[in-house]
Amino acid sequence: MPRSHDSYYVTTPIYYVNDKPHLGHAYTTIAADVVARWHRLNGRRVHFLTGVDEHGQKVLEAAGRRGISPQDHVDAMVAPYQALWQRLGIAYDDFIRTTEARHVAVVQAALQRLKDQGDLYEAVYEGWYSTAAERFWTEKDLVDGKCPDTGQPVEWVQEKNWFFRMSRYADQLRLFMAEHPDFVQPESRRNEVLGYLKKDVADLCISRPAARMSWGVPFPWDATFVTYVWFDALLNYVSALGYRPDGDSGPLFADFWPADHHLVGKDILTTHAVYWSTMLFALGLSPARCLYAHGWWTVEGQKMSKSLGNVVDPNLLVDEYGAEPLRYFVLREIPFGYDGDFSHRAFMERTNADLSNDLGNLLHRASSMSEKWLQGRVGALDEPREADRALQALADRAVATYGRELEALQFHKAFEALWELVRAGNKYIDTEQPWALNRQGDTARLAGVLRRCLEIVRVAATLLQPVMPAKARQLADQLALPAGALALPGCARLELLTEGATLPSPSPVFPRLEELPARVQALLQAATAAPPAAPAPPAPAKETPVSTPTPAASTPAAAEETPLISIDDFSKVQLRTGRILEATRHPDADRLLVFKVDVGESVPRQIVAGIASRFDPAVLVGQQVVVVANLKPVKLRGVESQGMLLAAGGKDVRGLVSVSEPLPPGTIVR
Ligand code: MSP
Repeated sequence: MPRSHDSYYVTTPIYYVNDKPHLGHAYTTIAADVVARWHRLNGRRVHFLTGVDEHGQKVLEAAGRRGISPQDHVDAMVAPYQALWQRLGIAYDDFIRTTEARHVAVVQAALQRLKDQGDLYEAVYEGWYSTAAERFWTEKDLVDGKCPDTGQPVEWVQEKNWFFRMSRYADQLRLFMAEHPDFVQPESRRNEVLGYLKKDVADLCISRPAARMSWGVPFPWDATFVTYVWFDALLNYVSALGYRPDGDSGPLFADFWPADHHLVGKDILTTHAVYWSTMLFALGLSPARCLYAHGWWTVEGQKMSKSLGNVVDPNLLVDEYGAEPLRYFVLREIPFGYDGDFSHRAFMERTNADLSNDLGNLLHRASSMSEKWLQGRVGALDEPREADRALQALADRAVATYGRELEALQFHKAFEALWELVRAGNKYIDTEQPWALNRQGDTARLAGVLRRCLEIVRVAATLLQPVMPAKARQLADQLALPAGALALPGCARLELLTEGATLPSPSPVFPRLEELPARVQALLQAATAAPPAAPAPPAPAKETPVSTPTPAASTPAAAEETPLISIDDFSKVQLRTGRILEATRHPDADRLLVFKVDVGESVPRQIVAGIASRFDPAVLVGQQVVVVANLKPVKLRGVESQGMLLAAGGKDVRGLVSVSEPLPPGTIVR
């Protein structure tokens, strides 16, 4: 069911209202907003949906603790999400709540239709239930007897339930994935789903008896059962468009389904790729064009916990840094799809370097020299020379690359392309030397050079509108451009400013951060002073911790006692970059994790590392690491380890060693 290319539909997951919004929620929502704004700027009709997931056991329990009804509870909990989206400048088109009548009606009609066509059946469910993940698990899914996603306890459930015949649609999904290689992105996540589909796909338990868990959508033919989260919530993507499983769906649905992008975090990939797609097939609908799973943020090198969550509370970040630099940073700092770390220092360095230095300086230099030597006016262009033509070619390339990469959700590449142009602008000033041109009285060249620099700032302002709309406006004001003058078509031409227009007095659009705000420093101190969440139990003697450096190197004092080695000794150690493909718990040792790491060879290495006390395996998949590649293989508690991951902190592992740029696996580290 093809639909026109002048429309674009993007969704975020709907977040559990139970938690207050955190950096992970803000990240996906910012990404969706930027890409939605970009398509709007291109003149396309856009529908951007976000919302909240309000049913489930967690909500019911939390409401019970507060002594209020679940509906009152969710009504109160939704406000912090909507308030944060407003502060972050999130321009969604629709915000769905799963308790709304428009959604509940669709869930019930979908249940009825699936039952009528024989896709639902009743059977006894026996297995584990995780309230934290609101999911059923089988015995073999559990890790150390706990929920594999959350590490939280699970409860044994034996009850009659309704099942969706998911197995019936597994082949259709296999075929769909083969025919649509871009359906699940990035590639590593696609492989994960293909791996899942290699095994038999079981049917899906989609209900709970209302007597045990009442806070869900009642089954229309039997209100003693309710459905929620992984049947109810997924349907939000179509219920918000006015889809009707049992009749006419209306114009929004016709215009916007299938969605162009479902943005999700890597932990909820299977539920979207497998549960949701098979549900759609059963309803006779096509899945989204692309399901894009992004990575997870760690905070200051550690897994996001309660105290570390406070350190990156999105409201704190907006208070201290402003929404727009934050929007830029989260999308610039790590490639979308990979895990990454939020560090306040990295924030300060990145925004100072890119925004204040590169872009801010280009504007400041060009406008203050225009003020001094061109009566504060936009100069006239002179006859283009070789350097000017090169600059124009670069601008053409930057604009084309920017759009292409942004639409592919490769935000960091889009910014790299734009910054190449901005930095070329600063270099152009250095080589053309406007001060010398002024001294020589070459006013025509002086005007042309400064004009081209201002034009580059205009290009940057135009392209940055979806990311930093208010800052883009401020840049436009500094260029004496009226509202609406940052149009995208043809914006690469370095000749669009109004010659002779009077520039306002230069004022900084991106003030430098000289040091971390006091409130941030205090929170960082408090969080890092706290003892590690789960101190590592003492290692059994035979178990060398593979991921940790030798104890002698773990503290500065011990390092002084370490004998010096020659460069020849050091050069025997082969260090390479690697990318973690899989991470699981060791079957036989609580403190060990077992990894599959791509180090650029034909087969991934299996590496065992003693870092389970610090890291959740799910958080590490996708992460770039540094591997000692020429260690003799050893067996650790029966599992062979073919190398070692570098980590900081000695026995109390504090962080994994990585490199600052994403590099191909196997790159030599020296
Ligand atoms: N309600 C379900 C989604 C249903 S969608 C039909 C849910 N909600 S959630 O509140 O737990 O939000 C999950 C989203 O936050 C996921 O996309 C998850 O990946 C993301 N994140 C949670 N912690 C994160 C980080 N530390 N970093 C980045 N994103 C993270 O699941």
